[in-house]
Amino acid sequence: MKKSSILAAAALVSAGALLLAGCSGSGGGGSTSTANAASKRACVILPDSASSPRWESFDRKYLNEGLTKAGFTADIQNAQGDTSKYATIGDQQLTKGCGVMILVDYNGAAVGVAKKAKAQGIPVIAYDRSFTGSDYYVSFDNVKVGALQGQMIVDGLTALHKDPKTAKVIYMGGDPTDNNAKMFHDGADSVMSKAGIKPAAEPAGVWDQSKSATNFQQALTSQGGKVDAVWVANDTNAAGVISVLKNSFKAGQVPVSGQDASVAGLQNVLLGWQTGTVYKPVKLEADAATAVAIALLKGNKPQYTQKLADGTPYIAVTPKSVGPHEVEEVVAAGDASASDICNTAELQAACTKYGVK
Ligand code: BGC
Repeated sequence: MKKSSILAAAALVSAGALLLAGCSGSGGGGSTSTANAASKRACVILPDSASSPRWESFDRKYLNEGLTKAGFTADIQNAQGDTSKYATIGDQQLTKGCGVMILVDYNGAAVGVAKKAKAQGIPVIAYDRSFTGSDYYVSFDNVKVGALQGQMIVDGLTALHKDPKTAKVIYMGGDPTDNNAKMFHDGADSVMSKAGIKPAAEPAGVWDQSKSATNFQQALTSQGGKVDAVWVANDTNAAGVISVLKNSFKAGQVPVSGQDASVAGLQNVLLGWQTGTVYKPVKLEADAATAVAIALLKGNKPQYTQKLADGTPYIAVTPKSVGPHEVEEVVAAGDASASDICNTAELQAACTKYGVK
């Protein structure tokens, strides 16, 4: 949606909210003004804070900014990796009243919350991670995220003059309870298998830095300590893998992928420990979710680019591959700061080399 149409939609949000209040019964108190106030509340649940800094650093910030600008009161909570806490937050938010729910699933917990919301006529947007029962799914193109990661691995091997067909590549995926994990995997594998790569080992997926380190250590041991590249699904897991690689390899010897353009990820990219990261400008995702929320409240059909296999309309924002030369683009966009990244003498030298300022 164009900026102008988002603004136009924002102007109409109150009318849409009133309309919804009439049929949702979410106000509890029964008075029109209570119901109206409740329907202007956008209820958001984030999954955790440890699996990626994005949730608290970017999603909270950009959803809050976007939703507030559009006339909502944003109630943004974090389930901190706890499914029962997730359900409790959902109940509390629904008691206060919600005009729309924007849920990032955590281990299936969004399904029950969405069911309760839908029973009250409240529209539900699956944000970043898909789950059963949402009206819309707003995310990045997650298969494309994986494909960009796969390309980093293939290019990294080629730069080291290693034949992908015979290279030992370890696959380190994300938590399979997150539906994105399969999309990242399939996107990455489509590019890597085309180049002749077959996974030498593939431990169970996680979204957890220290488990990622433990699982990678075991996989590496199973390969007699030999590895040519590691496909890793995000920067947090990559940090775990890199902590193990540092015991026996030098920076640049083993291509490693990532995702999120986190500060730690960008630092590893600049130092050569990580080949690249996938930058997902979260503001675009948050704004897309806000636009869908407004359209749903107005009773309009939001436009979408794709559909999930179960038919859910999917708005997929485009991600971008970032190597050391592109780190400055993330800084220029305001999604990382040079002072956070270039915080040691070694990093300062790398920042100077790659023009990060
Ligand atoms: C998100 C990634 C994130 C991961 C772990 C995925 O669903 O798309 O950006 O790194 O979860 O939180």
